[in-house]
Amino acid sequence: MDEHGRRGVLKAGGALGALGALGLAAPAQAAPWTWSAAGSVAGTGTGADPRWVWDPEADTLVASVILRGDVPKVNALLRTWKKNGQPLPDELPSDLRDFMERARRLPSWADQRKLATAYEFNEKRGLYLGVLYGFASGMMSTVIPKEARAVYCSKGGADMKDRISKTAKLGYDIGTRNAYAPDGEMIVTCVKTRLVHAAVRHLLPQSPQWDTVADEQIPISQADMMVTWHSLPTTVMQKLTAWKVPIPAHESEAFLHSWQLGGHMLGIADEYLPASWAEADAQAAQVLTPILAATPEGIELADILLGLGSSVDGGVLSKPILGAFTRFLLGDRIANWLKIPREPIWDPLLRTAWGPFVAVREGLLPFPTAPQVYWLFDEFLRKAALLFLSELRPISIEIPDANRPS
Ligand code: HEM
Repeated sequence: MDEHGRRGVLKAGGALGALGALGLAAPAQAAPWTWSAAGSVAGTGTGADPRWVWDPEADTLVASVILRGDVPKVNALLRTWKKNGQPLPDELPSDLRDFMERARRLPSWADQRKLATAYEFNEKRGLYLGVLYGFASGMMSTVIPKEARAVYCSKGGADMKDRISKTAKLGYDIGTRNAYAPDGEMIVTCVKTRLVHAAVRHLLPQSPQWDTVADEQIPISQADMMVTWHSLPTTVMQKLTAWKVPIPAHESEAFLHSWQLGGHMLGIADEYLPASWAEADAQAAQVLTPILAATPEGIELADILLGLGSSVDGGVLSKPILGAFTRFLLGDRIANWLKIPREPIWDPLLRTAWGPFVAVREGLLPFPTAPQVYWLFDEFLRKAALLFLSELRPISIEIPDANRPS
């Protein structure tokens, strides 16, 4: 075994040992990528295992921007680049500018009709989506070990409130009417995030903190990005389906389309992006479900996330209620990993009353006088969506040039 391989094995062993010592669940190893590109947006693929594919062009370029000390200048210029249709600042280094000109172009398969339908869906289902992005996807990210470690050890990990604002911006932008249109902001958000990820791939391997806990050499592979992608649209759609929220087929397909496009603009290759919900569910079962596990970093991040509600509303969104909602959404296993306490009132209430509440809300179950608890749930939905949106201060996604100070 060469030095590189040996170091990886030793690191993995060390990380597993540390987990055992802390009494945490040992992560199940991700099986080799077997999902067929025949089910992808591209319909065919190179056969490359995405665990060993990153974003070569962006990675080389951003590493060079960092090494030549251009990050502060580039960030200052990119703060003025906000709308999809806006020209890139002339003063950007020409290599970066050329790359971004290409990266901002929508693929030939972008379908404006589907995007218009996706907006209708986002409008109708905004309340559920806000809660699900925040508390299904957001909390799930804390039990995706590679993501939790990367987020914790990167620059943004030191200020989670700021980081959540930036991540929430993507969830917000994708739901707007003009998301991918010239006056929208989703393309800008994706291209900037693609640069951020490239910077993280260069920086994290230099972090002693990350080096101690990580079981990989370079973070954010194409496979990792698909894992996180599934924690977003796939998980959200699975929850809406489980709640029996009526969604016409063309709206469900359009929502998927907007996320396929989001994945593409973030630098995920089309051969890994699922072409249908059935393919997405199949891929998620292979790549997301088996890797979920607790890490000390994820537990700490989850605790910070659950504390955020109190700053908006000390009552309706208190930590115990958000904790109970997380348990309800992600199940006992994950809630226990995250050390979320059981709530004797909220846990059973959510289990028994949430389903009927959604049914009444959707007009599927006639209920002339809805029980008091339904108003409380409705208030919860509104406040949680507000929490998600309130994080959207005018915010600019910036390329980091350092890791979290250890
Ligand atoms: C940054 C979204 C995949 C780790 C960001 C940002 C967004 C974002 C919007 C910019 C916000 C900020 O600068 O804090 C996404 C989406 C993904 C994805 C939509 C997949 C579809 C991943 C994966 C990892 C990861 C797989 C790690 C395994 C990070 C880190 C940062 C970041 C470490 C930088 C935080 C910093 O500046 O310190 N991501 N991400 N992301 N993401 Fe991702």
